[in-house]
Amino acid sequence: MDRIRIRGGRPLAGEIQIGGAKNAALPLMATGLLTEDRVILSNVPKLADIDTMTLLLAQHGLAVDPVGNDGRTLSIGGPIANTEAPYDIVRKMRASVLVLGPLLARVGEARVSLPGGCSIGTRPIDLHLKGLEQLGATFDLDGGYIDGRVTGRLRGATIVFPFVSVGATEQLLMAACLADGQTVLANAAREPEITDLAECLVRMGARISGIGSDKLIVEGVERLHGASHTIIPDRIETGSYACAAAISGGSVFLRDARLEHLGATVRTLREAGVEILEQPGGLMVKRLNGLHGADAMTEPYPGFPTDMQAQFMALMSVAEGASMVTETIFENRFMHVPELNRMGARINVHGASAIVR
Ligand code: UD1
Repeated sequence: MDRIRIRGGRPLAGEIQIGGAKNAALPLMATGLLTEDRVILSNVPKLADIDTMTLLLAQHGLAVDPVGNDGRTLSIGGPIANTEAPYDIVRKMRASVLVLGPLLARVGEARVSLPGGCSIGTRPIDLHLKGLEQLGATFDLDGGYIDGRVTGRLRGATIVFPFVSVGATEQLLMAACLADGQTVLANAAREPEITDLAECLVRMGARISGIGSDKLIVEGVERLHGASHTIIPDRIETGSYACAAAISGGSVFLRDARLEHLGATVRTLREAGVEILEQPGGLMVKRLNGLHGADAMTEPYPGFPTDMQAQFMALMSVAEGASMVTETIFENRFMHVPELNRMGARINVHGASAIVR
């Protein structure tokens, strides 16, 4: 499907099942590289990125098999036959670089393509590489590829991230589980997806403390075993449908959505006049009265998520009064602004902030 036609102007009503979190599922799939046993994941969302990660793991020699008929449970495992992550796969999905740490930790070598350009800014992976170097890996750059190597095992170290990175935290967390000795990850990201990854790693035999905080302490083990894990519901999907209910003046029940994962999204939407109620089995989202302007600044969790910024700006476009939306995580993440303006929105961008009238 490359075209979606929407006939608008109707309040949304009904119930939507929230799927498993994509950004939790991708690193969780990479944990299949950390053990010779099987990792069984349930509540896997049906998305192109999941197919890309499946392809990448298959390229490394792993089997990714469906379990049952729901299409949402995967069993991942098998011997690692190849340690190269080719450009054709990595360019499609940046999260492919998450195989680097697990491959180095498990088999001591990895050849991973550099991710290349990305539409939301330059997005380097320097923190991933620097952290893995601190654990004892060495890297060579060769024709757009990173060639990584470890002599013996990775060794535990204290890594202080200069700023918060979700991917770098996940990368180092996975690698540290199989390192020799203790690793401390300070100024770590604490997104719910990282907690989900850490909990699955613990089920696989990893020794991690500080889960949910910005300081993760990992006592490395020699071996991890298989585990079964259910992926958390997607908080960005939840927030997006909440915006859709609110923008249309509707009332929608979001099944399985969890308030405690939403961080600043809840406060900001409520401030704008959106009603969000916790009910058994999910969240009820309604807009009864008018919407009014509220400000949002994107920040690492539990701040307002950058992945909710565009949807929130669409909502603010039809609110009474002005709103200021500031993007602090990615450069160049206002590509939606000219499109919203074409539809009649009044948005001006000044540097990293957009004023929505
Ligand atoms: C993840 C999410 C993405 C989300 C983002 C921020 C996945 C698969 N993707 O992306 O949806 O928008 O978190 O919440 O989970 N940076 C560096 N060097 C590095 C790593 C990152 O400079 O080595 C910069 C990035 O360019 C960006 C900032 O750090 O400006 C945060 O990026 P990061 O948290 O790493 O995002 P991702 O893990 O790529």
